[in-house]
Amino acid sequence: MNETLDITITKAAQSRLTVTDFSQLPFGKVFSDHMFIAEYDNGTWSNLEVMPYGPIPMSPAISALHYGQAIFEGMKAYRQANGNISVFRPEKNFERFNKSAARMSMPEIPKEVFMQGIAALIDIDKNWIPDQDGYSLYIRPVMYATDPYLGVKASDTYTFALLTTPTGPYYSNALKVKIETEYTRADDGGVGFAKTAGNYARSLHPFAEAVKEGFDQLIWTDSVTHEYIEEAGTANLIFVIDGKLVTPSVRSTVLDGVTRDTIIQLAKKAGIPVEERRISVKEVIEGIENGSLTDAFAAGTAATVTPIGEISYLGKRYVLSDPATRTVSAGIAKTLNDIRYGLAPDEFGWNWIVQ
Ligand SMILES: Cc1ncc(COP(=O)(O)O)c(C=O)c1O
Repeated sequence: MNETLDITITKAAQSRLTVTDFSQLPFGKVFSDHMFIAEYDNGTWSNLEVMPYGPIPMSPAISALHYGQAIFEGMKAYRQANGNISVFRPEKNFERFNKSAARMSMPEIPKEVFMQGIAALIDIDKNWIPDQDGYSLYIRPVMYATDPYLGVKASDTYTFALLTTPTGPYYSNALKVKIETEYTRADDGGVGFAKTAGNYARSLHPFAEAVKEGFDQLIWTDSVTHEYIEEAGTANLIFVIDGKLVTPSVRSTVLDGVTRDTIIQLAKKAGIPVEERRISVKEVIEGIENGSLTDAFAAGTAATVTPIGEISYLGKRYVLSDPATRTVSAGIAKTLNDIRYGLAPDEFGWNWIVQ
């Protein structure tokens, strides 16, 4: 990192740590004591501050609320076996954040603001990193447009914030998923590859409908034919077909997941053939029926590696093999966890040791 930035530190008068129940951590509901804020105006980022977590005053006219200029990221800090604190591949999230920013006509965040903001926030809230197995501190960068102006144009001012939330596994059981054939998450030429608020907003109604029908997640298909698999609502999708790791290729409608990329690299190193390509719904259904599809899982920072137990398509349910018998996803999940928690060598240099 280049120059050390001037970050104002304002400590919370009282920590909430002692009144937080670390055995009850629903995802994203418990926030650490502090947050990091930076403001963009006149072409520069300034007012860098770590301050007590809490409401940020704003005008109801800010353009993020009206026209949706809002982007975010998600990564995790882990407490390693030797006491080190490590953030997993934050540079990938930094790069993706700025790709999202460019697509949404928002300013890029300088790398030192992103990285030093994380380091400063983790330093002050390190005791919020859980030490239970499978737990971590989820880091949520977010940027939103703050011009109080109702004209439709890119805002001139923005707020960047970093929030952290201690977290355990997002899903506790194998997933029951529905292949969505009516609604779409993203369209060619749109913003599907960006981690922007609207992608999630448009998915909420179809997701709620699926939950009512008893599903945990949706599998999104392409918006033109609904014949090709894209990704899940909060994770990329990976299948094992004929012994090969097969995953939909990243395109303008699919988020380029850090976990997906990590798993591809681990699989290749383990000698498992990898195919990144279009995958049809037909191929998946036939693979389940004829037994050539032996594993299927969701891969994401929050979702981690979660097996898919059941897929529903056009009202028919297809049950996959017992997750307990799946060696590929279990092996990859273990290797990934061991690297993150410092239990296996970090040969790819993925861990950013903050402390
Ligand atoms: C839509 C979507 N796809 C994929 C992912 C997985 O990406 P990553 O592995 O970078 O967390 C996420 C979540 O983070 C997501 O929201």
